[in-house]
Amino acid sequence: MKLTVVGGGSTYTPELIDGFARLRDTLPVTELVLVDPAAERLDLVGGLARRIFARQGHPGRIVTTSDLDAAVDGADAVLLQLRVGGQAAREQDETWPLECGCVGQETTGAGGLAKALRTVPVVLDIAERVRRANPRAWIIDFTNPVGIVTRALLRAGHRAVGLCNVAIGFQRKFAALLDVSPSDIHLDHVGLNHLTWETAVRLGGPEGDDVLPGLLAVHGDAIAGDLRLPRPVLDRLGVVPSYYLRYYYAHDEVVRELRTKPSRAAEVAAMERQLLEMYGDPALDEKPELLAKRGGAYYSEAAVDLAAALLTGAGSPYQVVNTRNDGTLPFLPDDAVIEVQAAVGPKGPSPLPTGPVDPLYAGLTANVTAYEDLALEAALRGGRDRVFRALLAHPLVGQYAYAEQLTDRLIAHNREHLAWA
Ligand code: G6P
Ligand code: MN
Repeated sequence: MKLTVVGGGSTYTPELIDGFARLRDTLPVTELVLVDPAAERLDLVGGLARRIFARQGHPGRIVTTSDLDAAVDGADAVLLQLRVGGQAAREQDETWPLECGCVGQETTGAGGLAKALRTVPVVLDIAERVRRANPRAWIIDFTNPVGIVTRALLRAGHRAVGLCNVAIGFQRKFAALLDVSPSDIHLDHVGLNHLTWETAVRLGGPEGDDVLPGLLAVHGDAIAGDLRLPRPVLDRLGVVPSYYLRYYYAHDEVVRELRTKPSRAAEVAAMERQLLEMYGDPALDEKPELLAKRGGAYYSEAAVDLAAALLTGAGSPYQVVNTRNDGTLPFLPDDAVIEVQAAVGPKGPSPLPTGPVDPLYAGLTANVTAYEDLALEAALRGGRDRVFRALLAHPLVGQYAYAEQLTDRLIAHNREHLAWA
């Protein structure tokens, strides 16, 4: 089995390699190709990746290259984890929206739109090359904003599934609190990527008893603390929102906070410098502790599980993925990309029914879906007006004066990445 990681030079990659090494029985990879244009980084990350495989006795071959077409040739699955413009572009996304009183974040709000505009054309070009090399290859997209990028891929007819670690993070967290194995926890997880709510926590599977009320009663403080939301919010909702909902439910508070501290991008860039130095040490042969300070916990396990289900039918039968709506959430268009539980196998994901969705969540989900549609239009066709329309539609922007100012800033800061600007 050949797997290719686009953006393989990411400092996150050792997390992925560690998962491939530990879970080699679930996913028997024989060749793993890390492809990246940044040769120096790729060298450091590739070296550590080989040492992790060797230490754990993984027989697979690790290849590093900057040649995308060679990298995807014959690949059974291609993982996308790239970041157009790197942390420098992210830093901008997190900064200029604050000047207009709006949240500055890599995937939510105006910064997320900027990321979508930079990213969609690049990802579509890569996907075309994957399809030319092997039309049966699966594309697993980690590249943010995952909802919009996956929607772009599916609209172009690619065999793609979007993936995020928020759900697996909750699954692991709740399992630890309840002292059960993660595989015993089934989440009723509904919404869009980075806009989801856990509406039930079931034991054993999709038909299992819902233990969420008891979980909130006993561990509500710990859960609320992790999300940095007040406990009464969780008690009143009776569901667990993802931490990205804080950008909505506590928007002004977050803006005040972000204005007084360095951006997450700056923090991550500092960590990356440290990590790369560590990766250069020939004695290091496991993923370093420091990597746990990044947001990507468990993403390797989610990736292994999904790739195994798609390629061999192994892996967990139900997984939270980003896929076409097709009536699952009846208040959204069929071609919307939603993040829900799905049965996953070699034919791809097929979402489980969700039951009625409370208007409190359905309303915001529909609003953000409309924004994502307009964001994709802007990413595919360009133009100031399309950027403005997407921003005006975003529930965290909404007012024309803000949308105008944000449009100008978005274009000014991203000109080198936007073919039409
Ligand atoms: C979580 C999200 C990812 C996001 C990451 C950011 O894992 O699900 O989509 O990219 O956090 O983490 P970072 O360490 O880069 O801030
Ligand atoms: Mn994510």
